[in-house]
Amino acid sequence: MIISSLVAMNGKQLIGVNNDLPWKLKDDLQHFKNYSMYKPIIMGRNTFESIGRPLPNRINIVVSTTLDHAEGCTICKSLKEAISFANSQTNDEIILIGGAKIFEEGMNLINKLVISWVDAEHLQGDVFFPKFDMSEWLEVSSELFSQSDGNEFSFKICEYVKR
Ligand SMILES: NC(=O)c1ccc[n+]([C@@H]2O[C@H](COP(=O)([O-])OP(=O)(O)OC[C@H]3O[C@@H](n4cnc5c(N)ncnc54)[C@H](OP(=O)(O)O)[C@@H]3O)[C@@H](O)[C@H]2O)c1
Repeated sequence: MIISSLVAMNGKQLIGVNNDLPWKLKDDLQHFKNYSMYKPIIMGRNTFESIGRPLPNRINIVVSTTLDHAEGCTICKSLKEAISFANSQTNDEIILIGGAKIFEEGMNLINKLVISWVDAEHLQGDVFFPKFDMSEWLEVSSELFSQSDGNEFSFKICEYVKR
């Protein structure tokens, strides 16, 4: 079973500001959609509230100790419970989609990392991806995207597997 974290961050590991993304990247949203389609996605309550709805054609799992019900989602009280539920839904891949709390707790559970490295070091924000040891990860693919009308910044999508 693959358990991955799918994230966009800058070189300072910034991932969020005011419960939103710090950038507008049309091609990264398309990549997120393509990558996660038909798979179970696990997110924290803040990320769910930020997205504002369940994402179509995916198994939406929200980790929360305070939410009882959200239309189109399965609520789990812990990440462990969420992964166990996701396991019962697929033999393929479970994707952690954030935010920081989910990424942090998931760091020692994942065996794949898909990072969109955004060329926007100067941006300010309030949520960061946890510190991790890059030497434990082997880059297996990368693709560059240019700044454009739809992409506020250039970025590079890299896939890594655990060594
Ligand atoms: N750049 C990216 O790729 C990316 C991806 C995702 C999110 N983001 C950004 O990140 C920010 C949101 O992240 P965040 O760190 O503030 O919040 P978050 O991880 O999305 O949600 C935190 C909440 O989720 C629940 N939760 C998380 N882990 C839990 C656990 N192990 N057990 C029980 N409950 C748990 C708790 O909800 P309760 O309080 O209800 O218990 C907690 O308060 C936003 O700015 C968003 O735009 C960026």
